[in-house]
Amino acid sequence: THLSAADYIRSHIRTVPDWPVAGVQFRDITPLLSNPRVFRVLIDQFVHRYFDERPTAIAGLDARGFIIGSVLAYELGVGFIPIRKKGKLPFTTVAESYELEYGSATVEIHADAVKPGERIVLIDDLVATGGTMLAGARLLQRLGAELIECGAIVDLPELGGSAKLRAAGLPLFSLLDFD
Ligand code: PRP
Ligand code: ADE
Repeated sequence: THLSAADYIRSHIRTVPDWPVAGVQFRDITPLLSNPRVFRVLIDQFVHRYFDERPTAIAGLDARGFIIGSVLAYELGVGFIPIRKKGKLPFTTVAESYELEYGSATVEIHADAVKPGERIVLIDDLVATGGTMLAGARLLQRLGAELIECGAIVDLPELGGSAKLRAAGLPLFSLLDFD
């Protein structure tokens, strides 16, 4: 192939106009997951990025961050910490609320999810306004984690999320941008 890994991955993201509401160009990653070759290229981008960093755990955001984050954790030989939408986790939880491109939400983590001295990479599929990633990062930091970096497949820089994360001292590693 003559495509870079980023362009190969980009060519397998489907844009769905006006979903879930008018005006949103929804970047659908399911074609990335259904093709085993591109799925492997995708995961390998993150494995190579974090192999030397030796995180002690990978945290992932509900729901699409689970798909990428859990495979990454497995490949790196570390544990996976789910950060879930409100009301899904059974044990004692800590919560953060945030605004979305299309609504608002609350995410939760188990109060005992982070062990002392833990160095964590937080993964989601996409950063839009950055609300979800920032809320997840705050939860991890409130539980005492050192957050190495936030990682995503897609950044939508025009929605300001990556700038917001940077301003909060949380750099974002993304594989590709969409305008
Ligand atoms: C999407 C996406 C991110 C978030 C990004 O999830 O998977 O988690 O939005 O938006 P933000 O940067 O503006 O916060 P969504 O909330 O649609 O939920 P889902 O994972 O259940 O599909
Ligand atoms: N989450 C927030 N905005 C999104 C978009 N445009 N595409 C996919 N997921 C999103």
